[in-house]
Amino acid sequence: MPLPQGSARVRQRTVLLVGIAVLLAALVLAVVLASLLTHGRHEVSPQMLKWKDRGTTKNLQEVILGRCYNYITAQHPELGDKDCLKIWESLKDAFIYKNPCNITPEDYQPLMELASHPVPCNKSLFWSKTGDLAHRYTKSNQNFLTLEDTLLGYMADKISWCGDPSAPGINYESCPKRSECESNPGSVFWKMASKMFAEAACGVVQVMLNGSVEAGAFRSSSIFGSVEVFNLDPDKVSEVHIWLMQDIGGPQSESCSGHSIQRLISILEERNFKIICEDNYRPVQLLQCVHSPDHTDCRLCTNSTAIP
Ligand SMILES: *[C@@H]1O[C@H](CO)[C@@H](O)[C@H](O)[C@H]1NC(C)=O
Ligand SMILES: *[C@@H]1O[C@H](CO)[C@@H](O)[C@H](O)[C@H]1NC(C)=O
Ligand SMILES: *[C@@H]1O[C@H](CO)[C@@H](O)[C@H](O)[C@H]1NC(C)=O
Repeated sequence: MPLPQGSARVRQRTVLLVGIAVLLAALVLAVVLASLLTHGRHEVSPQMLKWKDRGTTKNLQEVILGRCYNYITAQHPELGDKDCLKIWESLKDAFIYKNPCNITPEDYQPLMELASHPVPCNKSLFWSKTGDLAHRYTKSNQNFLTLEDTLLGYMADKISWCGDPSAPGINYESCPKRSECESNPGSVFWKMASKMFAEAACGVVQVMLNGSVEAGAFRSSSIFGSVEVFNLDPDKVSEVHIWLMQDIGGPQSESCSGHSIQRLISILEERNFKIICEDNYRPVQLLQCVHSPDHTDCRLCTNSTAIP
C-alpha cells in the first residue's frame, strides 16, 4: 500500500511542477509579446490627442514652401530677400511637438518677424463675413490688399496645422476648435497676423462688411471687431471707409444707418478717425453682378426706360 501511495504523491508533485513551469513560461511569453506589440504599435501609429476640428493639412511643408516661393518670386518679386526655408522652419518650430492648446504669441514671434512686410498706405482692406467677395475684389483691383494678400496670410489661407506631444509631433488627424481651447495654433496665428496687419495700416483704410447678416454687419466678437479696430494707429490712419455690401437680391438686414454700424462708427470716432460709410459700394457691387447680371440692382442705369 505505501508504494502506490508514494508513487501517486511523486506523480502529483511532478504534475504540479510541470504546471508551474508551463504557467511561468506562458507568463514570460505574454510579457515579452505585450511589450513587443505595444512598442511596435507606438512606432506605427502613436496615440495622438483627439480634437473636433480637421487635422493638419497634408503635405503642409510643401504647401507652405510652394505658396511662399510663389508669393515672393511670381507675385511680389520686390520682396525678394525673404527666406522661405527659414519661414517654414519658424512656422514648424512654433507648434511641432507642442500641446495644441498651449500656443503663445511668443511661439510665432520669429515667424512674424521673418514673413512680415510693409503694406502701402491707402491699400489695406479689412473684411468680416465678406471674405469671398473681398478676395475677388482685391484680385481684380491691385489698389487694395487684404490680410490674405500679404505673405503671412497668403501662406496660411484655408489650411490648418497643429502639433502633438508624441511623435512625429504633428497631428494630421484632428486639431482643436476654438471652442475647445482659445490658444490653439490657428487662432493664435490669425489673431497675431490680424493685429500686425492693422498696426501696419496707414492713410485711408477700408472695411467690407456684410449687410445681409441678420445678427448685424459689425460684430464685436469678430476678428475685425475685437482685434483690428483696436489696433489701427490713429497717428497713421486718417480715414476709415466702410463698404456695406448686401447680397444681390438677398436680405437687406442692415444699411449704413443700422444699429451695429452706428456702434462701429462711434468706436471709430472715439479713436479720432474720420469715417465714411457707403451702402453697396458700386465698384464692388459690379463684381457681385457677375453672378446676377439681370438683377435690377445690376442695371447700368437704375432708371432706364424699358426697351421693347
Ligand atoms: C492716400 O489717400 C489720401 C486721401 O485720398 C491722399 O491724400 C494721399 O495722397 C494718399 N496716399 C497715397 C500714398 O497714395
Ligand atoms: C453675407 O453673409 C451671408 C451669410 O453668412 C453669406 O451667405 C453671403 O455670401 C455674405 N455676403 C457677402 C457679400 O459676402
Ligand atoms: C424712372 O423715373 C421716372 C421719373 O422720375 C418715373 O416716372 C419712372 O417710374 C421711373 N422708372 C423706373 C423703372 O424706376
